[in-house]
Amino acid sequence: MENQNDARAKGLSPIRDKRVRNVIERMNQSRRQPDRSAFAGPSRHDAEAFADYGFSIHPDQGDLIYLLCRAMGATRVVDFATSVGMSAVYFAAAMRDNGGGLVIGSELVQAKVDVAVQNLADAGLSSFAEIRQGDARQTLTDLGGTVDFVLIDGWPQPEGPSLARQVIEIVSPQLRVGGYVLNDNAEPDFLDYIRDDANGFISITLPIKRGTELALKIA
Ligand SMILES: C[S@@+](CC[C@H](N)C(=O)[O-])C[C@H]1O[C@@H](n2cnc3c(N)ncnc32)[C@H](O)[C@@H]1O
Repeated sequence: MENQNDARAKGLSPIRDKRVRNVIERMNQSRRQPDRSAFAGPSRHDAEAFADYGFSIHPDQGDLIYLLCRAMGATRVVDFATSVGMSAVYFAAAMRDNGGGLVIGSELVQAKVDVAVQNLADAGLSSFAEIRQGDARQTLTDLGGTVDFVLIDGWPQPEGPSLARQVIEIVSPQLRVGGYVLNDNAEPDFLDYIRDDANGFISITLPIKRGTELALKIA
């Protein structure tokens, strides 16, 4: 049976636009990981210390975001966090291909915002994204109306609740019923929130990366 990597090697992707695909390909080619020791050092929680690393979503997650956004006709979506713009490009391509829409991104590190803005421009998608520089716990409190889809792709905290948990609590009231949440890092307190019936979601764990949680808001 043909696997995903074979399919991708043949250039199969739900995204048809060459410019968008070229930018995604370029970002994938330049992926790199910091040395393991960086995750043990005193700066391990400092996002500025990792300004040169994207930590971007897996291509399967990007394709899923694109397909779901197309299927539901999404026009307003949240990209937390944006980093160098991989997830933002998938979202923005769906907005454009749906006939128009807006990606509201959030990224703490200015240098990463600059790279994301350039990647979106190179993909011809600038007019479909607004990247808000700063702490998502401030920049995403007012999304200016309901949204259709939220990516929760956060960053480790030294202590206390995860960023994923804090941000889902901020954006969940602004997500419409019938909207989706996709989570990358399976933070335990995020999973507790999204799997608690009292919060109005049903969810499944997809076998992508270490487990990608996809949740649908039903109430
Ligand atoms: C896993 S990366 C996001 C990758 C991105 N979704 C992509 O596909 O390219 C997480 C990002 O969160 C950013 N970050 C950390 N703390 C943040 C905060 N409080 N508010 C907004 N962004 C934050 C980091 O700088 C980092 O770029």
